[in-house]
Amino acid sequence: MQTILTKSPVEAAEFIKRGGIAAFPTETVYGLGADIFNENAVARIFEAKRRPMDNPMIAHVGEVGQIILVASEISSNARKFIKAFFPGPLTIVLPKSAKVPLTATAGLETIGVRMPRNTIAREFLTACGIPLAAPSANISGRPSPTTWEAVYEDLNGRIDCILQGEATEIGLESTVVDCTTEAPMILRAGAVSLEQLQMIVSATTFYKNSSYVTPPSPGLKHKHYAPAARVVLIDPEFKVKDSKPQAYIGLDFPNGEFGLIKICASVEEYAAGFFAFFRECDKRKIETIFCQKVSEAGIGAALMDRLRRAAAG
Ligand code: TXA
Ligand code: MG
Repeated sequence: MQTILTKSPVEAAEFIKRGGIAAFPTETVYGLGADIFNENAVARIFEAKRRPMDNPMIAHVGEVGQIILVASEISSNARKFIKAFFPGPLTIVLPKSAKVPLTATAGLETIGVRMPRNTIAREFLTACGIPLAAPSANISGRPSPTTWEAVYEDLNGRIDCILQGEATEIGLESTVVDCTTEAPMILRAGAVSLEQLQMIVSATTFYKNSSYVTPPSPGLKHKHYAPAARVVLIDPEFKVKDSKPQAYIGLDFPNGEFGLIKICASVEEYAAGFFAFFRECDKRKIETIFCQKVSEAGIGAALMDRLRRAAAG
C-alpha cells in the first residue's frame, strides 16, 4: 500500500470518507483515524498498528455537538469537564451509543471522547464531518509519535495517508477520566492534571488498582511507550559508571559519560521531547537511556507514568 503524504486536511479527509485510515497531528501526539461508524475501517487500524483487539479507541470529535453521536448519555460531571477543557487534551469516558461498533470500543459499553484543540486536527475533523476512532499513530508498544516523521517510520506502507503538521505541542497523551462513576476517576494520567480536574469536580481521584478486579482502561495493561533501549529512571545525584552506549535525558546535568544528552529547561519541555528522544536513541543504537525522575505535580505525574511504563517495557 502506498502512503500519501499531504499538508491538506481536506485531502486527508477524502481518505476517511472513502473508508481509509489517515494519521493526523493533535496537540498531544499524532493519531491514526478512521470513520468510527465504519467497522472495516476501524478494524484496519488494529491491523496497521498491530494493536491488541482488547484495547479500545478514543472517539475524536470536531465539535461538542457531535459527542451525542457516539455517547448515549452525558453526565453532569462530564458536562462540567467539557465546558472547562474541550477542546483540549482531555478524554472523558461515557456510556457508548448503540451506533458505535463494538470493535471500536473493544467490546466495552463505554467510549472515550475527546475534542482536540490543534488547528490542523480541527480542520481535518471538520472536513471529515464525522467522529473518528483514533489511537496514537504508532506500532503498538513503541514510543508515541510526536512528529509526522515518527508516524512515517512506524506506519509507512501500512496506512493510506499522513497529514503532515508540526511537532506536537504537549508531547504526551490526553488524560483519560471515567465519568460513568459517581466520582470521576482518572484512568490515564495526561496533560490535564488531577489538580486541574479537581478544580472543576473536587471528588475526582486517581484510579487505584486495588478497587478493580479488571483494569477499567484495558490499554494500561499492555506494554507501552518502550524504545528498543533499556530505560532506567534515576535521581539527579545518581552517578552512572558504565561506559556502554548510553544516553541521558533530564532537567539537571548528569553525573557520568553519555553518548547523547538532552537537558530540558522545564518539565513541560521534558514531556514534549522524551518520546522523540527515545526514537533518536534507537536510531543511534543506544543500549541504555537514563531518565531523570521529576516531581509528580502537574504534567510531572503523566511524564513519570510514561517513564515508568517505558522502564517496565
Ligand atoms: O492524546 C490522546 O489521547 C491520543 C491522541 C491521538 O488523541 N490518543 C491516544 O489513544 O493516546 P490510544 O489509543 O493510544 O490510548 C487510548 C487509551 C488507552 O489506554 C485505552 O485503554 C483508553 O484510552 N480507553 C479508550 N477507551 C476507553 C474506555 N471506553 N474505557 C476505558 N479506557 C479507555
Ligand atoms: Mg497509544
